[in-house]
Amino acid sequence: MTEKRVSLHGMWSSRLVFILAATGSAVGLGNIWKFPYITGLNGGGAFVLVYLICIAIIGIPIMMAEVLLGRRGRRSPINTMMELAREAGSSPRWSWLGWVGVVAGILIMSYYSVIAGWAVAYVLDAADGAFVGFDGDSAGAHFGAMVSNPGTLAFWHAIFTILTVLVVARGVRSGLEQAVKVLMPALFLLLALLMGYAVNTGYFADGLHFLFDPDFSKLTPEGVLTALGHAFFTLSLGMGAIMVYGSYMPKKTSISKTIFTVAIMDTLVALMAGMVIFPIVFANGLQPASGPGLVFVSLPIAFGEMSGGLLFGTLFFVLVVFAAWTSAISLIEPAVAFLVENRGMRRTTAAVLIGAFCWVLGLVTVMSFSSWSFSFEFAGATKTDGMFDVLDILTSTFMLPLGGMAIAIFAGWIMQRADTVDELGVGEGAGYRVWYTLVRYVSPFAVGILILNSLHLLPT
Ligand code: TRP
Repeated sequence: MTEKRVSLHGMWSSRLVFILAATGSAVGLGNIWKFPYITGLNGGGAFVLVYLICIAIIGIPIMMAEVLLGRRGRRSPINTMMELAREAGSSPRWSWLGWVGVVAGILIMSYYSVIAGWAVAYVLDAADGAFVGFDGDSAGAHFGAMVSNPGTLAFWHAIFTILTVLVVARGVRSGLEQAVKVLMPALFLLLALLMGYAVNTGYFADGLHFLFDPDFSKLTPEGVLTALGHAFFTLSLGMGAIMVYGSYMPKKTSISKTIFTVAIMDTLVALMAGMVIFPIVFANGLQPASGPGLVFVSLPIAFGEMSGGLLFGTLFFVLVVFAAWTSAISLIEPAVAFLVENRGMRRTTAAVLIGAFCWVLGLVTVMSFSSWSFSFEFAGATKTDGMFDVLDILTSTFMLPLGGMAIAIFAGWIMQRADTVDELGVGEGAGYRVWYTLVRYVSPFAVGILILNSLHLLPT
């Protein structure tokens, strides 16, 4: 029956292409930049454990649900939700889920491309040999000088936004396929190589201990909430990005196998990044809890010191930019697909419009690290990067988990069970029942309880 619906925007040519595109979306700054710095802020091991549990019992089931909805609807998330709600005899107001996703994608894109801009700037610095002889202080000063210069940030933010718009304007398929095929293996390889360096710092064991030895006394309610939000962020869940990619997925492809592959690769990249960065942090007397600059301060020290550092440093930041690029594409694709479907806009016009809007909005983040910086308290933790933190909390901590919760409720309670069986295509065996139980009971309640608990809204 889903064969009746055909995507207006084309289809992935194979299962492999879907895996590549979804991995491209999932693996990005979230893994290499955000995971290490929030792990550092939240004390390590216990936080990592909560994050891994969230991936396994909330992230993966909801990711399957999101792809399932997308493939069944074959439209932009807004229209998909409207259509599927009608099919299930429910309210067309479910399309709000799509709207919230479009807004979340635009908000995330606005700051994501500022951070990606840092990585673009670091490509040139690395190639220039700027890192040679760096120690903790000079690396920190270099980073500090960059982020406190709004002009520089706005410029690199513009370059990255333009790169993203170029790909989205041509349709997500062309280019992406080749790019991800080469880049993902290259990224793995380089991380493996850097792990070799990390082992040689003599602090590898300290890094592993920090990452994998849970000390629950360091885990705060705010940390739990951050881990939950990050499970959504890193898998690109809860705002329709994976839904829109699912809408281009061929009917015969197995959703469960594909999603497991993507989630495992995403988690591996994050853990590898952590295993590279923390030994370097400890070896150079840096603070794990130093915030968003952690990766941009620790890695340059390593590149400045190792032999071949010029080459590896340049290559590494190039790969980070590419990883961010293939993620950013999926952040604005839902909005662009909507404008094309409902406003009859050309893809190019839609992409330029959304890109320009995100760039302007991104200036808020650009200023967050200099003149507009302010601190505030959230769920018992102090945040120091002003509007950047506000946007991050609003999107990762609330919009994505709540969006994911709504997706789980829709797949578990609103859609006909038979339709989910048909779409998942694994029969009604044990695998299906585990998934169904998780999306129906576990994921939505877990998200709700974790949010309420962290905000101290539950009686203790
Ligand atoms: N997952 C990406 C990362 O880890 C970021 C990202 C891309 C994203 N698309 C998304 C996050 C959609 C949330 C929703 O860098």
